[in-house]
Amino acid sequence: MARDAALSAAPPAGPAPAAATDLEPIAVLYHAVWHETHARFLPWPEATRRDLAFFRERVRPWLHCTRIVRAGNALAGFVTWHDDLVAQLYVVPAARGAAVAGPLLQAAEAAIAAAGLGEAQLLCVVGNERARRFYERCGWEHRGRCWQAFGTDGDAVVPYWRLSKTLIPA
Ligand SMILES: CC(C)(COP(=O)(O)OP(=O)(O)OC[C@H]1O[C@@H](n2cnc3c(N)ncnc32)[C@H](O)[C@@H]1OP(=O)(O)O)[C@@H](O)C(=O)NCCC(=O)NCCS
Repeated sequence: MARDAALSAAPPAGPAPAAATDLEPIAVLYHAVWHETHARFLPWPEATRRDLAFFRERVRPWLHCTRIVRAGNALAGFVTWHDDLVAQLYVVPAARGAAVAGPLLQAAEAAIAAAGLGEAQLLCVVGNERARRFYERCGWEHRGRCWQAFGTDGDAVVPYWRLSKTLIPA
């Protein structure tokens, strides 16, 4: 189908460190995929303020902790981690269900383990069932919920699943 056609024309390469020139393509992908898949989970004012500049500034400080996968000349997905936290994992629609998300997640896990940490964490917004199934297939375990408050009064509260995975530290 469309996904297979896109990937068979240019099989994805393995995860690579992100370079400064990757900042803009990552921000464009993140902006598009976040609005496709996540905007519906957040309060409308928070979702609408998240423009391309928001995602560019969110990624910029963590470019050194980012791995990307390309399919041909196009960016297929990226992962970012901070300390023990897998912070973002986003794959374009045409590259989902293919060998992109798994290797990206493994790259982040390997980097966290290489820093000597024995457990990795992530938060997944409650309702993002596909992502949760993916993480559990990859050996992550659900550890309960936490909440993030949005809005000037903090009155819009969004629940997240907390997941973790035991690693073998380097
Ligand atoms: C979450 C995400 C990274 C997972 O990556 P993925 O490529 O979709 O994950 P998988 O490789 O496990 O494939 C997912 C689905 O495709 C299916 N699939 C896998 N290979 C397939 C194939 N060759 N043909 C058809 N379907 C296939 C899987 O069965 C799975 O479906 P299911 O979850 O309904 O059982 C990706 O969906 C994504 O970027 N989502 C949007 C952003 C997001 O939610 N990020 C996570 C934030 S916490």
